[in-house]
Amino acid sequence: MGRDLQFAVLTCSDTRAAGEAEDTAGRALIHLVEERGWRVIAYSVCPDDEESIIAALIEMADDNKADIILTCGGTGFGPRDITPEATHKVSERMAPGIAEAIRAESLHVTRRAMLSRGAAGLRGRSLIINLPGSEKAARESFGFVVDQLEHAVEMMAGGGH
Ligand code: MTE
Repeated sequence: MGRDLQFAVLTCSDTRAAGEAEDTAGRALIHLVEERGWRVIAYSVCPDDEESIIAALIEMADDNKADIILTCGGTGFGPRDITPEATHKVSERMAPGIAEAIRAESLHVTRRAMLSRGAAGLRGRSLIINLPGSEKAARESFGFVVDQLEHAVEMMAGGGH
């Protein structure tokens, strides 16, 4: 029996926050999570603004107590791409292996994967994972780490191996 994981999804995008583009990536992630029988307990879209992202991540971790917080977008080289920096600031410990796995697997799909600066980190009992912002990239990247999430949450809860 799988563990009942609780997720939060945070889309970081100026255009999607302004309603100029639909958040297809965030919605796809919600669907992928629910397809596994897990729950999405919080969902939000915020602009590529470090303070907004930090506030949303803290709320999702400390108030909503999400096991896993998936962000999508803002990991590239654009002048306003700032999601990894916000993730670093709120994380108590980093989880570089998750970001490394996403980039390594993604490089087999597209060489442009090296242009994602996505990070992952732990805050309290929450694991924050940055995913790239296009629906395709977010779907693929989630797929590359999804099989390790239950064990990650068990370890965060103090469980052994
Ligand atoms: N990773 C996967 N698996 N598939 C993709 O199509 N696109 C890349 C990369 N990672 C991609 C991917 C591209 S084109 C960019 S610019 C970066 O993610 C950063 O995306 P972001 O700025 O939307 O976060």
